[in-house]
Amino acid sequence: MTILVTGGAGFIGSAFVRMSIGQTDWRVVNFDKLTYAGNLENLTSVAGNPRYRFVHGDICDQALVDSTLAEEKPDAIVHFAAESHVDRSILSPEPVIRTNFRGSFTMLEAARRRGVQRFVHVSTDEVYGSLAAPLEATEEFPLNASSPYSASKAGSDLLARSYFVTYKLPVLITRASNNYGPYQFPEKLIPLMIANAFEDHRLPVYGDGQQVRDWLHVDDHCRGVMAVLEKGREGEIYNIGGNRSLPNLDVVHKVLQLTGKPESLIEYVKDRPGHDRRYALSSEKLMRETGWRPFTNFETGLAETIDWYRANSAWVAGVRSGAYLTYYERNYGNRARG
Ligand code: NAD
Ligand code: DAU
Repeated sequence: MTILVTGGAGFIGSAFVRMSIGQTDWRVVNFDKLTYAGNLENLTSVAGNPRYRFVHGDICDQALVDSTLAEEKPDAIVHFAAESHVDRSILSPEPVIRTNFRGSFTMLEAARRRGVQRFVHVSTDEVYGSLAAPLEATEEFPLNASSPYSASKAGSDLLARSYFVTYKLPVLITRASNNYGPYQFPEKLIPLMIANAFEDHRLPVYGDGQQVRDWLHVDDHCRGVMAVLEKGREGEIYNIGGNRSLPNLDVVHKVLQLTGKPESLIEYVKDRPGHDRRYALSSEKLMRETGWRPFTNFETGLAETIDWYRANSAWVAGVRSGAYLTYYERNYGNRARG
């Protein structure tokens, strides 16, 4: 089987590519624009494999997407490519809407014209919006997006579903909770807190830090996507949760404990606009239909992730380039709590 993975140079996409090359006999074509979040260093372990090919391109470029599908004839597409950061979507919504909605349209349209046999659209629990405890979203929950990022993902989920209903394109949609693990860009909570703690920089906690997220190890997520690709039913949606809900402040305390840094590094800053208070997912459907389970214990996974960042300080230094510093200043520069 040949699969085309979009966004395979990013955090989750690269883990999926490494897993696919390492654990299957599939050919993998990685189609990625290499934005600030895409990094071919994430793929050095597979770069020389004859079953792996990289195509540098934008998912909004219909001609290049069409010619790549014509050349590679993938049996399946696994669509990860996105602008994935909520804070950036608040600062600059346009690229988020373009890639996440328009880009998904381009991929779906190209897949329809070529008659691709399986299209996995990778989405997020953020489309369900904030849920009061003890609710857990099942796949039937209404869409209730709060940020330009989550709205763009919810919109692309609806578009993907419409391609199944209208054109019978064999679409499957996954909605995962917050991922963590190696190679995550240090703009997201866990890698940002790790990188800042290593350097004794302030750890910026939004609002009161009591927002709840459900933490899923990236490898558990990738195994979930693979289970959906291989065993999921066409036209269906599958939640993929880590079954480990924690307030942000607890996560930050754990990072400080594991890095041996003092609590005084925590700095409460102005809240994220439109900040969702709590996400929670039921993954019962995926477990029942495919046998998938999240394996990684959060404390073990977090300790291993911290070890990875400690051992890969050159990777972190490389991605925290000039553009990163400009973003950091835009997002955090004016955020002291008044
Ligand atoms: P990421 O930001 O680390 O990587 C995104 C990748 O997409 C990068 O390699 C980037 O170069 C590529 N890309 C961006 N725009 C592109 C374009 N126009 N054309 C081609 N490639 C482009 O993202 P991630 O955290 O790995 O997330 C991957 C997917 O998983 C996204 O669809 C995201 O919505 C979803 N998701 C993420 C999480 C999470 O916690 N990170 C949780 C649930 C779902
Ligand atoms: O829930 C799945 C989603 O998880 C994915 O769809 C997104 O792609 C991914 O970015 C992530 O979104 P979040 O907004 O939940 O993740 P983030 O790491 O940005 O923030 C996690 C929580 O931590 C959130 O409540 C905001 C808070 N936070 C974040 C940062 C970056 C802080 O308190 N301080 C920070 O500096």
